[in-house]
Amino acid sequence: MIQLTEVATLSVQDGIGLITLNNPPVNALGYSVRKGIADGIDQAVKDDQIKAIIIICEGRTFCAGADIREFGQPPKDPGLGDVLVVLDACPKPTIAAIHGTAFGGGLETALSCHFRVGVSTAQFGLPEVKLGLLPGAGGTQRLPRVVGPEKALTMIAIGNPIPAPEALEVGLIDEMIEGDLKEGALAFAKKVLAENRDLKKVSENNEKVEAARGKTEIFDNFRKSIARKTRGFDAPESCVKTVEAAVNMPFAEGLQTERDLFMELMSGSQSAAQRYVFFAERQVAKIPDIPKDTPQLDIKKVGIIGAGTMGGGIAMNFMNAGYRVTLVETQQDFLDRGLGVIKKNYDITASKGKMSADDVDQRMSLLTGTLSLEDLADVDMVIEAVYENMDLKKEIFGKLDGICKSDAILATNTSYLDVNEIAAQTKRPESVIGLHFFSPANVMRLLEIVRGEKTSKTVLATSLTIAKKIKKVPAVVGVCFGFAGNRMFSSRKREVDALLLEGAPADQIDRVIFDFGFPMGPFVLSDLIGLDLGWSEETSSSSSVRDILCESGRRGLKNGSGFYKYEAGSRIPIPDPEVTKMIADFAAKQGYEKREVSDDEIVQRCIYALINEGAKILEEGIAVRPSDLDIIWINGYGWPVYLGGPMFYADLIGLDKVLVTIKEFEAKFGEDWKPAALIEKLVSEGKGFKDLN
Ligand code: 3HC
Repeated sequence: MIQLTEVATLSVQDGIGLITLNNPPVNALGYSVRKGIADGIDQAVKDDQIKAIIIICEGRTFCAGADIREFGQPPKDPGLGDVLVVLDACPKPTIAAIHGTAFGGGLETALSCHFRVGVSTAQFGLPEVKLGLLPGAGGTQRLPRVVGPEKALTMIAIGNPIPAPEALEVGLIDEMIEGDLKEGALAFAKKVLAENRDLKKVSENNEKVEAARGKTEIFDNFRKSIARKTRGFDAPESCVKTVEAAVNMPFAEGLQTERDLFMELMSGSQSAAQRYVFFAERQVAKIPDIPKDTPQLDIKKVGIIGAGTMGGGIAMNFMNAGYRVTLVETQQDFLDRGLGVIKKNYDITASKGKMSADDVDQRMSLLTGTLSLEDLADVDMVIEAVYENMDLKKEIFGKLDGICKSDAILATNTSYLDVNEIAAQTKRPESVIGLHFFSPANVMRLLEIVRGEKTSKTVLATSLTIAKKIKKVPAVVGVCFGFAGNRMFSSRKREVDALLLEGAPADQIDRVIFDFGFPMGPFVLSDLIGLDLGWSEETSSSSSVRDILCESGRRGLKNGSGFYKYEAGSRIPIPDPEVTKMIADFAAKQGYEKREVSDDEIVQRCIYALINEGAKILEEGIAVRPSDLDIIWINGYGWPVYLGGPMFYADLIGLDKVLVTIKEFEAKFGEDWKPAALIEKLVSEGKGFKDLN
């Protein structure tokens, strides 16, 4: 066996050369891996006893792509593109033997071999678009030549992987290996040699791309199909252009187009933001005082209190992950309705072909409804999801203390209230934690984990594990009103409400926020949720715009009139002069003088409010690091990924510039805009939030 580099070896078995890569955790194609492949091919070609070459990986996966950590660093030759030129030109049969994930540069490496084989659990994908990039080592030119342009478009411009059976079906792999991968790959190599198979390079295989030439509708239709989902992102369109190049240009020219577009994306701020988010999403689950070996509880059965929208959504998360769930309500009709909604949601998913009727039955079989809290005696974890009322929550936790097993986790889904106060109702505050799901709970990825003063490390570590199992992105935060996400949201709401009274029309504010990249503006959202959520006729005092709208019978989209009016059956908001007048009258009574507000001011008021509040949250130790706040805003509030999150955005603009504007706002609008001491400190030291991650 020859050690090619510290992570690559070349060995020979029955006349077959095996280039084995071992670069944990995911065999990313860093310098030593690239050099290992290039040297391995070079030596195997020179070695007469080697008749065919297999590239195979140790550990949990084949190569999961280029080493993202190297991006933005000075390049170190050989680059992956150069290595793949060597591989592509190899005169001996080359075979990629794949397990785990052949992603990005990993799949591009495999595509540069003559043949690909994989185990049945392997996944194949070009997810670069999710990093704001496109496959930059020939993937955009090779994949369409193997699977055809249509399939390649979805794999490259959407970035979702395909499983091995599908890869076999579309011709991406030549054989699926049952049993041991190495043995299977060796057998395949011997077959290739015995049958003297044609060694046609993928780069010269033009049949599928030529067949699509002139069919511009393929691209027109695809662009239309992704337009809504990819609004604001640069990379998807560049991805489409590269596949167009594959169809319309010779391989070498297509490769050049790929290179040019790749470099353009790589140097842009969107990819920097998306790569930052990739690592931030992995960092967020790492809590400095909770080491990996922190003891954890074994959670098998979960109790959920409240079968409303929130409780039902939370239950679905657990059922989807195979947990048994006991759902508690106070009245039979509430319970029946809650259980019915869950079943209906699954039926809708099944009707879209996303799960089978058997899957629906299987999930529903995990669910038990009850009217008795006593039935939570045997659960390992309880999540209380009743409405936001401290007295009610305290009462429930007091009862749970007497009912639940001594080591059960007692969690509250409160979105604002004091978790410590709730914990104090029990004799085991160390078992109490906040698990703040976002609505709709079965869809939104964020889970704010609220660590109370006395929450034990075991309970926190277990909650982090549970979050991963139910496919949530957890962010650990401390106790304060609204925790991290809603506290920042409140600061934006304060500005949105003020802007409206100062004279910015609701549709201008909505347009600006939508154009910034959020899925919708605040007033369209309020109309959608219902203006009367949390409002009551008895206590309404005409003291806010919402009060006066609700008092005049405007409840939002559901009754066709809110901040906007809606035609029957339509969700399209239409500005309503009547509302404009109601707001203007209300503002005048409050002493506001109507003025023109610029789009730029709306962005700055709404976004810098988030940044300033975020900095205060960090200052107080409520969040662990700035990037956690970015993850919260991306996964819980629809912040556009390509802008990296509010704290990343602050650095992008320049924290010093942000501070100047915040100070201007403080002079104009007062105390609310007092700059966070942390921002002042960072600016005085010439630093940004990035220095705290
Ligand atoms: N480069 C550097 N580090 C990587 C990496 C990569 N491509 N992929 C994963 N890692 C790191 C993660 O940051 C994490 O590090 P940590 O333990 O220090 O936090 C560790 O590997 C394990 O990753 P995950 O926690 O994500 O492990 P999972 O088992 O959940 O997932 C995976 C594994 C599916 C491979 C997932 O990591 C993944 O999707 N990776 C990214 C794949 C990708 O985007 N590839 C394209 C890269 S760009 C490219 O190839 C350009 C080319 O076209 C030129």
